[in-house]
Amino acid sequence: MTTVLRPHAEDDHAEELALLAKEDDRVRPPGWKLSPWAVTTYLLGDGDRISPKYVGARRIVEVAVATLATDRALLLLGVPGTAKTWLSEHLAAAISGDSTLLVQGTAGTAEEAIRYGWNYARLLAEGPSRAALTPSPVMRAMAEGRIARVEELTRMPSDVQDALITALSEKTLPIPELNEEVQARRGFNIIATANDRDRGVNELSSALRRRFNTVVLPVPATAEEEVDIVTRRVAQLGRSLELPETTTGMAEIRRVVTVFRELRDGVTEDGRTKVKSPSGTLSTAEAISVLTNGLALAAHFGDGVLRAADVAAGIVGAVVQEPVSDQVVWREYLETVVREREDWRDFYRACREVS
Ligand SMILES: Nc1ncnc2c1ncn2[C@@H]1O[C@H](COP(=O)(O)OP(=O)(O)OP(=O)(O)O)[C@@H](O)[C@H]1O
Ligand SMILES: [Mg+2]
Repeated sequence: MTTVLRPHAEDDHAEELALLAKEDDRVRPPGWKLSPWAVTTYLLGDGDRISPKYVGARRIVEVAVATLATDRALLLLGVPGTAKTWLSEHLAAAISGDSTLLVQGTAGTAEEAIRYGWNYARLLAEGPSRAALTPSPVMRAMAEGRIARVEELTRMPSDVQDALITALSEKTLPIPELNEEVQARRGFNIIATANDRDRGVNELSSALRRRFNTVVLPVPATAEEEVDIVTRRVAQLGRSLELPETTTGMAEIRRVVTVFRELRDGVTEDGRTKVKSPSGTLSTAEAISVLTNGLALAAHFGDGVLRAADVAAGIVGAVVQEPVSDQVVWREYLETVVREREDWRDFYRACREVS
């Protein structure tokens, strides 16, 4: 057991990656640790020794992996909580064996994060030299022939985004100060993620967009699929947090997923009752965190069984983001939908207590 709170994907799944590498006899693109086929197996699992990381359509993963084997970069697009970051980390881990070459896009991201910066003490002492240069994750990925990840691409100012264009089209990063350049080695590529909801914050320039293949990650199609994702992730998180043994009631997981889906879709599962949607995003990711919280409550303060009371507060917190209007939405849902369900009595009571 490591003491690291969250190991990188390539460390966490080192055994699986080694196993795949050993048995992989298909063609590997230059610079890749695994063949596209094995990368896909790593991501989707083989129902046996390889655990699934991404739960969803095989075609989506295939398109993403195939893109990275070309000279085009990959843009993962989708609403919050659709595993964009998750998928990009595992893709980088499987392809390059390194998911750490990461640029986090924010309004304050500077060009240095894409190109390079300087160690000013050395720069002043020695003048511009290779030793005084601090490479960005993108520059390192180019030099080492690996995958660089750019998170939340559209949150970066557009001139910073555009710094990627040379890297992507010319496959080189000029360093005019040294009259040098860093040429990308084979295996280099970029996975960027962007949030649907942020669209318009900083629109992707068309010059940059043309260098990306876009893969849209959907929200889980069915409740069963979402329950499957949540169950897996909650179990994994519980293990890595070393929570005391708890019985994860499947019924409780199903209920949280149902509540989230109904509020998100604006209609009950049976299609009979319309409900209002709250302002926040009730994504799979939120469902996972509500349940993980519930597990911690059950483990430390309850009797070790996940019960309605352990998830109620978390659900209310996730739903009521905007105190006034969301509270109205939640109340209405509670009284018109939750109260009417015979087998949801315990849940109704628990919610009333914390609402
Ligand atoms: N289809 C899925 N398969 C596996 N895990 C999923 C899936 N959808 C969501 N998750 C889980 O949801 C969590 C959140 O995903 P992630 O942080 O990657 O979302 P995101 O799309 O990057 O969201 P944001 O736009 O907020 O950055 C992860 O723990 C991931 O395991
Ligand atoms: Mg993300």
